[in-house]
Amino acid sequence: MTRVAVIGAGPCGLSQLQAFATAKRNGAEIPEVVCYEKQSDLGGLWNYTWRTGLDEHGGPVHGSMYRYLWSNGPKECLEFADYTFDEHFGRPIGSFPPRAVLYDYIAGRADKFGLRDYIRFNTSVQSVVANPSGGFTITVDDHKSGERSASEFDHVVVATGHFSTPNMPQYPGYESFPGRILHAHDFRDAVEFADKDVLIIGGSYSAEDVGSQCWKYGAKSVTFSVRHGPMGFDWPEGCQEKPGIDRVEGKTVHFTDGTSTNIDAIISCTGYLHHFPFMAPELQLKTANVLACDMLYQGMVFQPNNNVFYLGMQDQWYTFNMFDAQAWYARDVIMGRIDLPSADEQEQWVADFVALEGEVTDDYGLIDFQGAYTKALVEATDHPDIDTDMIDAMFKTWKGHKKADIMSYRDNGHASPFTGTEAPAHHTPWLQAMDDSLEDFLAEK
Ligand SMILES: Cc1cc2nc3c(=O)[nH]c(=O)nc-3n(C[C@H](O)[C@H](O)[C@H](O)COP(=O)(O)OP(=O)(O)OC[C@H]3O[C@@H](n4cnc5c(N)ncnc54)[C@H](O)[C@@H]3O)c2cc1C
Ligand SMILES: NC(=O)c1ccc[n+]([C@@H]2O[C@H](COP(=O)([O-])OP(=O)(O)OC[C@H]3O[C@@H](n4cnc5c(N)ncnc54)[C@H](OP(=O)(O)O)[C@@H]3O)[C@@H](O)[C@H]2O)c1
Repeated sequence: MTRVAVIGAGPCGLSQLQAFATAKRNGAEIPEVVCYEKQSDLGGLWNYTWRTGLDEHGGPVHGSMYRYLWSNGPKECLEFADYTFDEHFGRPIGSFPPRAVLYDYIAGRADKFGLRDYIRFNTSVQSVVANPSGGFTITVDDHKSGERSASEFDHVVVATGHFSTPNMPQYPGYESFPGRILHAHDFRDAVEFADKDVLIIGGSYSAEDVGSQCWKYGAKSVTFSVRHGPMGFDWPEGCQEKPGIDRVEGKTVHFTDGTSTNIDAIISCTGYLHHFPFMAPELQLKTANVLACDMLYQGMVFQPNNNVFYLGMQDQWYTFNMFDAQAWYARDVIMGRIDLPSADEQEQWVADFVALEGEVTDDYGLIDFQGAYTKALVEATDHPDIDTDMIDAMFKTWKGHKKADIMSYRDNGHASPFTGTEAPAHHTPWLQAMDDSLEDFLAEK
């Protein structure tokens, strides 16, 4: 029997399991599927850990999420076609749930469809090697038994995410800075920075969200250093934007425009590296954090070896629903329902896709680009329809809300693309909502 290994039980790995489980429910004979997950639970980044640095087994901590993290996009933009928010929660809920609520939703689908049965928890993949005779040998460490073992597979789906290995630049003066320097990957609780002057480096989602959190939880000041800025938000009093960093001297950071400010801590929100040390070198994906990744036909079939798939490796406007679309496509390639074109045609497809992204000039265009990509994948399989036009429009409205007020955009509600349900306003405006628990979010107040 054909054997498929899925590495990681975060949203992408779960999408892959759901794709196979759905085919099975519909009467198809599916391959044997084994999912390896190094943590003790599913959910990937949504499975919060207080740990930083090394995990309990000496491996790198995967988690990059922090306390008080609320969804930064409307939940309606990532809703599963086969498991709506209405179905899970039984009533309409706000559009920007905190992490624990989205974790609950992800776990709810996995439980409803029996996805845990495919997963070997506490099992980290140590190496994936292509066998000369075909197929792959995968070596794993079972952290419960303490045993290392190797098994053979015909296909490998890499679903280990790409927001866990920090991209950490260094600036002159770091070595003698008398305060804490950390990457967003290791940020866990904004309360730590109350009454402090905080420097945030970066101009993207982590920068805006970690900076907003620090301000919300009482930082004395928040200075954003954005080398390709500005971010374009109307920051509240106590926040300021500066250009790139020239150097740090003692507690003073000097910017490239000649200005300077005093700081107590530096949080580097400078993004992440695609990092797959467990894959043999010739099987490693090498790409930037973009919408049209190098080396991936249809954004998920690894060109150099078509029996390897990488899910969710693009920069993300679309998330869970795009992961489902990719997983359905990968499943159909593996099950022989979709024939792949020649290597040259795949190469051309990737080149054209990369060129097409290069022609896009603004964020609205990028949203449409990823919406069109997701739609094309959905149309190629039996995945239920997704109204990407509606979702594209929702993303654009959301961007407008952010631009109008970065501290209150989460107070708006959006409509479900599947049930049409309008999300109510949350009982407490985001800026005053200090409790991020599921119980508090779902409480009637
Ligand atoms: C701080 C932060 C906030 C975010 N907020 C949002 C948001 O609000 N909305 C949104 O839609 N998206 C958000 N994202 C984007 C996020 O990438 C996706 O939501 C989603 O988690 C990606 O799923 P994934 O399965 O690709 O990767 P991950 O969620 O990273 O899961 C990968 C899994 O692989 C496992 N794994 C890794 N290596 C191994 C190994 N060697 N062996 C076995 N298992 C392994 C990990 O333990 C993990 O469970 C956020 C990302 C970050 C970093
Ligand atoms: N609440 C939430 O939901 C939430 C919160 C945080 C993050 N996220 C998610 O996490 C993912 C990752 O976002 P991210 O912001 O961490 O990464 P990112 O989008 O890749 O952004 C990295 C930022 O760092 C800057 N940068 C990179 N190298 C630098 C250097 N050497 N010096 C100065 N600046 C540098 C980049 O600017 P340049 O353009 O200059 O390179 C960019 O602004 C996204 O999917 C996001 O949605 C979500």
